Amino acid sequence: MAISILVTGSKGQLGNEIQVLSSKLTEFEFHFHDVDTLDITNLEALEDSFSTIKPFAVINCAAYTAVDKAESEPEKAFKINADALGNLAHCAEKYNCWVLHVSTDYVFDGTHHIPYRETDYTNPLSVYGKSKLAGEMLLSEIEKAIIVRTSWLYSTFGHNIVKTIRRLATERDTIGFVCDQIGSPTYAADLAGALLIILQRLANTPEATSLAGIYHYANEGACSWYDFACTTVELSKLSCKVKPIETQEYPTPAQRPPYSVLNKSKIKTTFGLEIPWWRNSLEKAIHLMNEAK
Ligand SMILES: NC(=O)c1ccc[n+]([C@@H]2O[C@H](COP(=O)([O-])OP(=O)(O)OC[C@H]3O[C@@H](n4cnc5c(N)ncnc54)[C@H](OP(=O)(O)O)[C@@H]3O)[C@@H](O)[C@H]2O)c1
Repeated sequence: MAISILVTGSKGQLGNEIQVLSSKLTEFEFHFHDVDTLDITNLEALEDSFSTIKPFAVINCAAYTAVDKAESEPEKAFKINADALGNLAHCAEKYNCWVLHVSTDYVFDGTHHIPYRETDYTNPLSVYGKSKLAGEMLLSEIEKAIIVRTSWLYSTFGHNIVKTIRRLATERDTIGFVCDQIGSPTYAADLAGALLIILQRLANTPEATSLAGIYHYANEGACSWYDFACTTVELSKLSCKVKPIETQEYPTPAQRPPYSVLNKSKIKTTFGLEIPWWRNSLEKAIHLMNEAK
């Protein structure tokens, strides 16, 4: 009998990528839901789903991800990114189920100059980062939780920075991107693949609770938003000029960490993952975006 897996937030970037890859995993039966069919802030609806599906694991791709907007609607951000994690934790304990959850590099303040480890001090600068950290904490209280922090996520699905850069580059002669925020772009398809490898390991390991905890996953390498924009324009064969600007020249409602590169040793060693370089993954995604045009 196939192992039931519940995927929440399945119409987002990551949720869509999991849908694509899941068709190859015949040992699992995936149940995909987004807010229209399963709102994770609704405990009663979650309990109903858990009691019907009896999932071995829930992969939570549901989130409030509007980083700047969160500054003006903190209640909503906390309801989805934190309180709902309490709901998931409650159901997971009650139904003895794993939770694979995704968090963010924005739990860090960016004062480091070497990649952040899972055990490093957190100090989020934004409402979004604070809400995601609060969610992590609620989930950390249960025995069967895996939290994967990632950064600068993009995909061929949904709205994201790569699509924004490509659109702006066709509309304007010059675009400006900040050169003093350093991180690692991450293709959601690569992250989805990593989450499914973790899921398979959990399903095939008798004492899997020893694997619970926080992990960092991003594509290999690091760059600034400026480098990322230049590379996106180049790989998209667009002629727009990209101009480096400083964060202070482009004020945003939410403060972002100037450096948020993640150290990925733990996830690579524990799960035997090979992680692609960000440029190679970006090239793949742009190829797919061009094909879909
Ligand atoms: N995007 C990034 O750059 C980034 C960076 C680091 C970490 N992350 C984390 O990575 C994860 C995946 O991000 P993503 O970019 O795939 O997010 P996304 O594209 O914004 O998808 C999130 C999905 O969750 C849905 N959702 C919102 N509220 C919900 C609720 N109450 N119940 C159920 N579903 C709900 C959203 O629906 P609506 O669209 O209708 O609201 C959307 O379909 C998130 O945990 C995010 O915090 C993202």
